[in-house]
Amino acid sequence: MDLRRPRRGSRRGAVRFHGTNVGIVVALLLLVVFAGAAPFTARAGSPFPASIAGTQVADGLPGNLTQIPHDPDIWRLLRQGGRGHTTVPDQKAGVLIQASGQWWREFRETLLPRYGIWGLSGMCALLVLFYMFRGRIRIEAGFSGRTILRFGSLERFAHWLVAVSFMVLAVTGLNILYGRDVVKPLLGYSAFADVTAYGKWLHDFTGYSFIVGLVLILLLWIRDNLPTRHDLIWLARGGGLFSRGRHPPAWRFNAGQKMIFWFVILAGASMSFSGICLIFPFTFTPFSDSFAALNLLGFTLPTDLPPLQEMQLTHAWHAVLGLVMTVVIIAHIYLGSIGMEGAYDAMSRGEVDENWAREHHSLWVAELDAKRAPDRKNLSE
Ligand code: HEM
Repeated sequence: MDLRRPRRGSRRGAVRFHGTNVGIVVALLLLVVFAGAAPFTARAGSPFPASIAGTQVADGLPGNLTQIPHDPDIWRLLRQGGRGHTTVPDQKAGVLIQASGQWWREFRETLLPRYGIWGLSGMCALLVLFYMFRGRIRIEAGFSGRTILRFGSLERFAHWLVAVSFMVLAVTGLNILYGRDVVKPLLGYSAFADVTAYGKWLHDFTGYSFIVGLVLILLLWIRDNLPTRHDLIWLARGGGLFSRGRHPPAWRFNAGQKMIFWFVILAGASMSFSGICLIFPFTFTPFSDSFAALNLLGFTLPTDLPPLQEMQLTHAWHAVLGLVMTVVIIAHIYLGSIGMEGAYDAMSRGEVDENWAREHHSLWVAELDAKRAPDRKNLSE
């Protein structure tokens, strides 16, 4: 009779998690598939996991509890989070021991906050080093005093809608993750409880304005963010970021900005969808559906995850992606403000200095010049 519990974090406990540990890692890497390939299908009913296939368990397993201690197979099945049949409406009751909850708790309480702090502080340290090494990226030729329209009012509105929404989401999300350790000691129990309750409410609703902003910037900027051969040259020269006086040619957006754009669109879409799955729990099956899509490519991932495991994986995905996005956006905010002279004007006034534009986006300015040339000619005639 095997009544001993595998020790927490032991190898044995990990192996018994339906083999989905591998699935989790693969899934976390495959951001795009998750964002796009998750059809909103209803969850199919499931028998028991493959690892214990063949075990005979009667319908109405919870009703037979008195027999369980005498049956090592049934006990093992329960410990592995096996799913029985139940006649009550809540099908989650078919799982008596939610084994994957141990992995999720370990991840939520230890791994996620630890690696999150490393990522956030690592990026801040890198930016400090970059600033010490390179200083503020100046306009080499100095301000010309003439300006060029870079972003119209709709573009700036869309940018700030995404940006402000994201920053609210990031701050309230970080409070959910780190607030108990960082904010509660500062504010005390009662104020922290209020702040967190309002923050959670704000987090849920700001998600919608983020989605609207995301769709707007996609429509407004997709054309200028399609890759061109100049992007390869720009990347090969490190964007001229690490040396003075050398600016590789770029159109309206350079390769670095295009990467930020596509990252924000794809990761933002995935964040939004996983957020909606969390707001409406047990409604969608993003992981089972994404795994089914991946299995078409030759993977053998489980496609009938129990409801709680779906929620745990969705939460893990949302949290990891949120932290990765925050880390990347910190770098973007640095370069769009103190890191580069003249850049912020593009998103505040919408106009940039002509010399800034010629240095950082020479092909775009040449294109504007070519368009304006006939007008100038007409004026002089
Ligand atoms: C205080 C915060 C922020 C500042 C100061 C800022 C600044 C800027 C500036 C100056 C540009 C235009 C660069 C140019 O003219 O070439 C820009 C573009 C952009 N921003 Fe932001 N931004 C902020 C926050 C955000 C956030 C939170 C997001 C998304 C989550 C975001 C997404 C974008 C995207 C996708 C672009 C276009 C691609 C690019 O230029 O990198 N921004 N931002």
